[in-house]
Amino acid sequence: MPELSVVIAATDNEQRALLQVLVDGTSVARTVHSCANFPLAASDPVMRRIRTANPEVTLVDLPADNPSAGLRAIELLHQEMPETAIFAIGTLSQPQVIVNAMRAGAREFVERPTTTTDLLEAFVRLTAAQRRGRQEGPRGKVFSVINAKGGNGATTVAVNLALALQASHGQTALVDLAPLGHAALHMNLKAVFSVADAMRNLHRMDASLLESFMTRHSGGLQLLAGTNVPGAVDPSTAEFVRLFDMLVTHYRYVVVDASSRFDAASRLVANLSETVLLVACSDVASLWSAARVQRFLGETGSRDRVRLVLNRFRKVPGFSEEDAEAAVGAKLIWRVPNQYFAVSTAIDRGTPLMEQRNTEIARCFAGLAHELTRDDTDTKRAAWSLFKSV
Ligand SMILES: Nc1ncnc2c1ncn2[C@@H]1O[C@H](COP(=O)(O)OP(=O)(O)OP(=O)(O)O)[C@@H](O)[C@H]1O
Ligand SMILES: [Mg+2]
Repeated sequence: MPELSVVIAATDNEQRALLQVLVDGTSVARTVHSCANFPLAASDPVMRRIRTANPEVTLVDLPADNPSAGLRAIELLHQEMPETAIFAIGTLSQPQVIVNAMRAGAREFVERPTTTTDLLEAFVRLTAAQRRGRQEGPRGKVFSVINAKGGNGATTVAVNLALALQASHGQTALVDLAPLGHAALHMNLKAVFSVADAMRNLHRMDASLLESFMTRHSGGLQLLAGTNVPGAVDPSTAEFVRLFDMLVTHYRYVVVDASSRFDAASRLVANLSETVLLVACSDVASLWSAARVQRFLGETGSRDRVRLVLNRFRKVPGFSEEDAEAAVGAKLIWRVPNQYFAVSTAIDRGTPLMEQRNTEIARCFAGLAHELTRDDTDTKRAAWSLFKSV
């Protein structure tokens, strides 16, 4: 493994000195420069010195009591030196900081107190990714689907949206994070591995291991199956972020079925999502719940990402779509028709609605996939061709 050049940015003197010892102790990396201040602007002398050092990795230490300057530095470094990998160092007890660091452009979030092994593993992952030439590839988008209320149809929406994205764009994964995973049943798949296996093996995860945990549907959609034991998956924030980081490196679209999971994990996934689809029905209890779920997700900053999907849609006299939007506090993105026989037969048989080409409800999910990807380049047409064999 060639030696990696590393710049350390840490405002705390002791921490800066310690990180240098740890980096040099890995024997695969060498500190070429360290700075006691975070760069504030592109023209900043600190930024100039980092640019001159031309590192392959920059470590940014985020102080627990005031991480914001470090987060801004990550954003700036990512913008100014996109070729340089950024590793954020921080505490695992601040989930929002971890998410913000990853969103700002950090490639890894390394726990403090840091060990040589932590850094060594992160350096090895980076070198392996560089060898595969992946790190410059475009990153995928996450769409998560969450219920307003149990049984409102999140799994039906997630499964069929994922199949529609796979048919129109390919390279799609469906991740089942429901408290009890039903997605495999909906697709009549027998999964050997689940999300729990992926979480347990994150420390040695690479593209081929990730692929081995996925269950392939006949049209090409890859499913990371859910748990079959209630409450079995309760990973830490950092593990979740790392799993999703892997997923968006390898798939163009990642659809998450959160179903009725209302916990820190669903908030975190909402934070990592391009769009959160909140599935509700038009009855009072469902809309009431939708408003609560929207507020719950809003508390961690996801409010503007949430869009309402009205499932089992039917016109209710005297109640408009604007009324539903106002009640929930989210814009309506899609309506799914009420077709109990078609939907329940599809689930019971394990033949998803998307396989029943040219039905109204299959066209509805293809339309939702199109709506969510309308700004993405190279949208393929022929959305149905992959299902010709079915
Ligand atoms: N558009 C629809 N029209 C009629 N019935 C529907 C529709 N969508 C879902 N259903 C029915 O609602 C039930 C629940 O669907 P699904 O399993 O997708 O919901 P869920 O919200 O994920 O459930 P859970 O809360 O258990 O995770 C199914 O039995 C299905 O038949
Ligand atoms: Mg479900």
